Amino acid sequence: MIEGIKFVNEVNLKSKRVFIRTDFNVPLKNGVLQDTTRIDEAISTVNYAKKEGAKVILASHLGRPKGKIVPELSLKPVADYLSKNYSRTAFISDITGKAVKAKVNEMKPGDVILLENLRFHPGEEKNDPSFARDLSELCDVYINDAFGSCHRAHASVDGLARLKKDKAAGFLLKRELEYFDMILSNPKRPFYVVLGGAKVSDKIGVIEALLDKADKIFIGGAMAYTFLYASGVNVGKSLVEKDHIETVRKITDKAKKNNVAMLLPVDHVCSEEFNGDPVYVESRDIPENLMGLDIGGKTADLFKREIADAKIIMWNGPMGVFESDKYSRGTFEIATFIAELDAISIVGGGDSVSAIKKAGVADKISHVSTGGGASLELLENSTLVGIEALKS
Ligand code: 3PG
Repeated sequence: MIEGIKFVNEVNLKSKRVFIRTDFNVPLKNGVLQDTTRIDEAISTVNYAKKEGAKVILASHLGRPKGKIVPELSLKPVADYLSKNYSRTAFISDITGKAVKAKVNEMKPGDVILLENLRFHPGEEKNDPSFARDLSELCDVYINDAFGSCHRAHASVDGLARLKKDKAAGFLLKRELEYFDMILSNPKRPFYVVLGGAKVSDKIGVIEALLDKADKIFIGGAMAYTFLYASGVNVGKSLVEKDHIETVRKITDKAKKNNVAMLLPVDHVCSEEFNGDPVYVESRDIPENLMGLDIGGKTADLFKREIADAKIIMWNGPMGVFESDKYSRGTFEIATFIAELDAISIVGGGDSVSAIKKAGVADKISHVSTGGGASLELLENSTLVGIEALKS
């Protein structure tokens, strides 16, 4: 996957106009940034480019404005954050056009500017060649440091990269690719995967791909109930994706054929309604009037016992409704256990990342991915649009 990609430290940046596609798609509430991890993680590339004497043009999307200007989704708060916490970053309230070109022409080596939200332009999501050309005219070198967006065939990820001869991956993207490569090419054994989250339909492709790589797959979260239901277990009022029962059965058959152990919950924390009082259910079967909202203590112990000898472990998706204290125990127990393991641990997906942060163990995880959808698609297809565009 990594072969054929250059990294930012392998290209000449001196006095060049360097376009760095970042993923500053961070949660924002009333103009206040709620989690700056993605910005902080991109700083090493920005600092390196500045030190090398580049004229740094930062660009990102924020939210889903669908080609329209949505003032609440302006990147201005990100420019302010960068200026306050790192180095002076001039915000340009436009993306392309004469005024932007003029600003770029005035830049001196070491200057940093941030363009407005790329998705305010309808050409971004359409991968419009003329928008890609306009972006291309702004720069000499293209750097992709936006792992979280690498699965999107958008103009700043794909079209622009393909137009540039001088292009490379930034340090954030490099680290992501190096860690995912540990799973995708010949992982250390045993290699285990813990999957959770609400919907099995979001993860079918990934599970199928991982059945060719992993030694064991642990399934928790609401998606476990579709698996349990498909194998004849009573799941009461738990969330079941009935349209996917057949697919889940096929997955279970493939696991058996490939000799991959698939572990499902053996007990549950349930309730009569979504945020009702917790009721412990000691058996695999759930009574008709209850829905499963977290794995039970026996399941957590079973999972921990079976995970203990991992050499490499990947976790994506919480074990229950961890946002509520009543149903967070399973997720936090698994998070803490994975963090303490003497193994390479990789955590991806927004919810699992916020779970390990809430559990206070993020710094003990070998790699906390900045990509949710991107990490799943990478595991499924072994590459991403943005990676291929860098190789082109
Ligand atoms: C993400 O947050 O997963 C990335 O920034 C991509 O955003 P998108 O799902 O809106 O394309």
